[in-house]
Amino acid sequence: MNSTIYLDCNATTPVLPAALAAAQQAMAAVFGNPSSTHATGVQARQLVDAVRARAARVLGAGEGDVLFTSGATEGIQTAVLSALCAVRGRQARGDAVGRLLLYGATEHKAVPESLAHWNRVLGLQLELHALPVERSGRHDLAALRALAPQAALVCTMAANNETGVVSDLAGIEAVLATVAPQAYWLVDCVQALGKLPLHLAQTRIDYAPFSGHKLYAPKGIGLLYVRPGAPFTPLMAGGGQEDGLRSGTENMVGIAALGAVLQALEDGGSFSSPTKMLQFREHFVQSLHAAWPEIIFNAKFDDTLPTTLNFSVPGLPSSAVVDALGAVGVQVSAGSACSAKKVAPSYVLRAMGVPEWQAASAVRMSFGAMADATFIAAACKRIARCGAELQTRAAAAEALRCGPPLQADPAMHLVPAELTDFFQQHPNAVLVDVREPQEHAADPQPLGCGRTALNVPLGSLDARLADWLGGAPVPLVFVCRSGQRSQRAVHTLRQLGYVQAWQLLSKE
Ligand SMILES: Cc1ncc(COP(=O)(O)O)c(C=O)c1O
Repeated sequence: MNSTIYLDCNATTPVLPAALAAAQQAMAAVFGNPSSTHATGVQARQLVDAVRARAARVLGAGEGDVLFTSGATEGIQTAVLSALCAVRGRQARGDAVGRLLLYGATEHKAVPESLAHWNRVLGLQLELHALPVERSGRHDLAALRALAPQAALVCTMAANNETGVVSDLAGIEAVLATVAPQAYWLVDCVQALGKLPLHLAQTRIDYAPFSGHKLYAPKGIGLLYVRPGAPFTPLMAGGGQEDGLRSGTENMVGIAALGAVLQALEDGGSFSSPTKMLQFREHFVQSLHAAWPEIIFNAKFDDTLPTTLNFSVPGLPSSAVVDALGAVGVQVSAGSACSAKKVAPSYVLRAMGVPEWQAASAVRMSFGAMADATFIAAACKRIARCGAELQTRAAAAEALRCGPPLQADPAMHLVPAELTDFFQQHPNAVLVDVREPQEHAADPQPLGCGRTALNVPLGSLDARLADWLGGAPVPLVFVCRSGQRSQRAVHTLRQLGYVQAWQLLSKE
């Protein structure tokens, strides 16, 4: 049985061993409530403060606030609520305020859904407007220049979760500085942590949410950066934790684990360098090209995170590629994990204007910063195997459909009277009935051979070939009614180099 090769790190990552150890240590020995004043509480408070300080360094947060959240969805809610409450205040004071809630057309659904939700709850009646992206997946800066003067809040992501396209944040910032200094700016940085340099305090970004489980911390812990002076309204009120910015007793286990990941980022060593990641991507690209020569990559490599590949194979829907890779133990996803249950083509690729078939065939392969050369080599080997199996099946399907005219070959024939001897000599042989299921059901022992056959209709034969061709050879005796379909099956297998295939004929 193949071990699993997990290539879906943009959906979530495994937990870093050091993070697991830190979480266990927090549960076992640092169980205090950071709000308590006794020594056990103080010990917990020190852990929280140390991780916050580390997070501030990693994010380049400067004097900005860094608060712990349950994940990016909560960070996004908090940011949207904060900005919209400030907009409501401006409206109440009669200040000029934009009427648009502008968000990138390829944002994670958490962004437009939160905008719609809080716009409704607060009764603001602002207009949600999707900012178009170019064919590259990057925001259309000319459209931003035209729309931003009317914007109350602008939401753009640092890197896209489906395509890995890295936004031109400097370009967006320059546009906002000239035409929309009044608009608040939220940047979803979930896919950037550990993959792109972050110097948040050097930007005019007001809010930046992060999620621990996208970078080897457990689920249920995240961060929100808030620029000094940016308006803030707590999402949760209560005991006044996090300086009143987010009430509720701290998730000590998550904070400890996240601290270990941030330490690994600061120390280096646990994660591959950007140069290594580019080399790893190149290996993947070569393997994928070899497996599917007609493959199309849906975003330019120069524009994307090295850890994310999004591709389509002409003629194969996403599910066919996902299943084929799954069969060799490689886990990838069709589009994003959140939308994987829906059959609709990726809205991200549609927004980029890729052809409809390409969006419906899109597959995302994403590896994590912990991947090393051994892991990448093993993954590429599996991709090669998957490609070889699919090509064999395609060739067989073609041969079945329109193979050359068939020549009778006595060496491939058996008659029912020979069958008992044959099965004695080949105890592992399988009798395969290539008729349709209803024909088989009416007569499960074809040609009166006295043996019940396995039913694999000729039209489904190519789906079984990978099993036969991939395993130890098993003698196969094909049978049908007239001999035509069984002859086609035997020829197909022999053409593919599988010599242990015979045809059962009704007469000598
Ligand atoms: C870009 C982006 N934003 C937001 C989220 C939501 O993050 P979380 O699962 O921490 O709520 C995700 C998760 O898929 C994401 O990829």
